[in-house]
Amino acid sequence: MVVFDRVTKIFGSRVHAVHELNLTVGRNEFLTLLGPSGSGKTTTLMMLAGFDSPSSGRIELDGQPITHLPPNKREMGVVFQNYALFPHMSIAQNLAFPLEARGMGKLAIRDRVQKSIELVRLGDHLEKRPGQLSGGQQQRIALARALIFQPKIVLMDEPLSALDKQLRERMQLEIKALQRQLGITVIFVTHDQSEALVMSDRVAVFDHGRLQQVCDPRSLYDKPANAFIAGFIGESNMLAGTVMSCQGGATNVSTAAGMIAARTGQELSVGGAAVVSVRPEAIRILRDDETAANTVGGTLQELIFLGDHSRILVRVGENTLLSVKLDDKNAAAALSLHAPVRIGWSDADGLAFAANG
Ligand SMILES: Nc1ncnc2c1ncn2[C@@H]1O[C@H](COP(=O)(O)OP(=O)(O)OP(=O)(O)O)[C@@H](O)[C@H]1O
Ligand SMILES: [Mg+2]
Repeated sequence: MVVFDRVTKIFGSRVHAVHELNLTVGRNEFLTLLGPSGSGKTTTLMMLAGFDSPSSGRIELDGQPITHLPPNKREMGVVFQNYALFPHMSIAQNLAFPLEARGMGKLAIRDRVQKSIELVRLGDHLEKRPGQLSGGQQQRIALARALIFQPKIVLMDEPLSALDKQLRERMQLEIKALQRQLGITVIFVTHDQSEALVMSDRVAVFDHGRLQQVCDPRSLYDKPANAFIAGFIGESNMLAGTVMSCQGGATNVSTAAGMIAARTGQELSVGGAAVVSVRPEAIRILRDDETAANTVGGTLQELIFLGDHSRILVRVGENTLLSVKLDDKNAAAALSLHAPVRIGWSDADGLAFAANG
């Protein structure tokens, strides 16, 4: 439905906000642009919405070039971070405004307003002013307003970042349900990786204006393409070291925690700098008589209770802390701070990447 073809945006003469972006978005897909601050997410969305134009490359919608089409000809709904409702107008007037601006008839407007407010379940609030609604309700009104043209595609730039955690998580599921119900395409921007994993069919990860990887949430978590993604998506222990061997998908890296055997995540050369990423849930505490492909001794630095699970930090060598997730609460209770502890993980649970990403 949407194609970015080698799209580049340069601000001034030096800032490569987006670099050679190739990305295709399918019909009815929920695609999230994810990345740290300044990585080019908003710029990408603005070029798709038509509020900004690429320095080079082209953008297509439904097979038609739209690279230089003005925003109001693109039939896209847009929701921004600051929901930008008009404070002096009622909710009904806020929703009707874009329709009136296009000269739609009164009856048709009333019908559209009614339908879109019902979608976000705020039908009783039409006569209120935005200031009389909570943050979450205002955000739902902004969503209703984006949907009022019945667009086939909705663009959202960090629409939930002003909300508290509980409300944010509820809205994530609501938006996702609405997207399925209406059969629309959503392109959603966030820098919150858990939000991206919860909501998306696919996630496009950006760093420094470059698309790093685009795939479904599970593959992103299980098969990160490089060290940046391994560190950015979910939690990972990152063990830095030197590649000692790399053959047939198996890599050995010499680290502060000793020699570590891992899967090869990316092309590596012997003697080069590498990092091995290991998820906290892949590491377990070993009994005295137990060993693992990777066995590491350390001292228990920290014991953190997190309700449904616990987390321990194990100090290995001088400066390395490994985070270990324990599902069994009793296992954590049996441990004592600063005592020696042996931990281990399988060679299949580590991924070796080039250190520079
Ligand atoms: N109008 C502009 N003029 C000059 N530089 C800009 C402009 N807009 C964005 N940039 C720069 O382009 C880069 C990408 O910015 P962008 O807003 O796309 O990042 P983002 O991924 O949306 O970040 P955030 O998570 O902070 O919103 C940044 O380095 C930013 O400073
Ligand atoms: Mg942004």
